[in-house]
Amino acid sequence: MIADFQDWAKSRQANIESVLQTFLPAADIAPERLHDAMRYAVLGGGKRVRPLLAFAAGELTGASEERVGIAAAAVELIHVYSLVHDDLPCMDDDVLRRGKPTCHIQYDEAIALLTGDSLQSLAFQLLAEHRLADDAQTQLEMIRRLAQAAGSRGMAGGQAVDLDSVGKALSLPELEFMHIHKTGALIRAAVMLGAYCGASLGESEAVNLDHFAKCIGLAFQVVDDVLDAEATTATLGKTAGKDAENNKPTYISLLGARQARELAEGLRRDACQSLEIFGAKAERLRQVTDFIIQRNF
Ligand code: IPE
Ligand code: IPE
Ligand code: MG
Ligand code: MG
Ligand code: MG
Repeated sequence: MIADFQDWAKSRQANIESVLQTFLPAADIAPERLHDAMRYAVLGGGKRVRPLLAFAAGELTGASEERVGIAAAAVELIHVYSLVHDDLPCMDDDVLRRGKPTCHIQYDEAIALLTGDSLQSLAFQLLAEHRLADDAQTQLEMIRRLAQAAGSRGMAGGQAVDLDSVGKALSLPELEFMHIHKTGALIRAAVMLGAYCGASLGESEAVNLDHFAKCIGLAFQVVDDVLDAEATTATLGKTAGKDAENNKPTYISLLGARQARELAEGLRRDACQSLEIFGAKAERLRQVTDFIIQRNF
């Protein structure tokens, strides 16, 4: 099953790479430096977890790979935009991302800012330009969900809380709020957008899938906190130990590694329970979930 998952993940990662290649403006189109930076930030790196989740969720609703590929690319573009901005000196001030110099180090801060802006716009352009759902109403809902997940009630809002929390000891509910927003919201959107590309879900199916996505979105950031403290810069491809260095409240600083891992495992169980209603069709989602919890990078 693991070998099978790896083959599946590889083929979906290749699919998303080629969709991103196709829709990112070529580096010889003006403004060349901005387009070059966009391609530098997006292509050839990252685990592509959000696209994998979208593909796996698409399998629940019989969605075509072509549709999911574009929806997943839109989510990945928002994600990369968030990474480029997250690494800026005014935020986490990081010099390494996906094993390469961060965008503002390779280019400059203004280009990094504009790269993020342009990736965000391109994401919504993709969702508006391609037929991705069976009906227009569902496609509008995809656009609305991604917008909400990226904005002040989602990722950007979570990032604001993150920056505001430097040096503070947050309570567990406050930390959960921050993580659910800065990371969970986009992961949740990835799952739902993938599913929306296919046949519509029944009401309780939709509720269960959304609950699954909420659980793994939070679990993803819990594991990210653990890895920041326990993994090496070489395996992560980003600077290890950055959270402690930047004095960020994390699940490590609040609970310690053992309890943080237990929490991630509890979220995995909760997530998988929500998938029971789907039976064997949700096997890919279970596999991606195991990868999210067990990964070491
Ligand atoms: C890192 O995300 C930032 C977080 C939201 C925790 P990923 O761990 O998915 O980064 P890539 O895409 O694989 O580089
Ligand atoms: C990042 O959280 C969340 C977003 C980019 C929205 P982190 O700051 O922990 O991500 P890494 O560890 O730098 O990838
Ligand atoms: Mg950050
Ligand atoms: Mg960071
Ligand atoms: Mg981190």
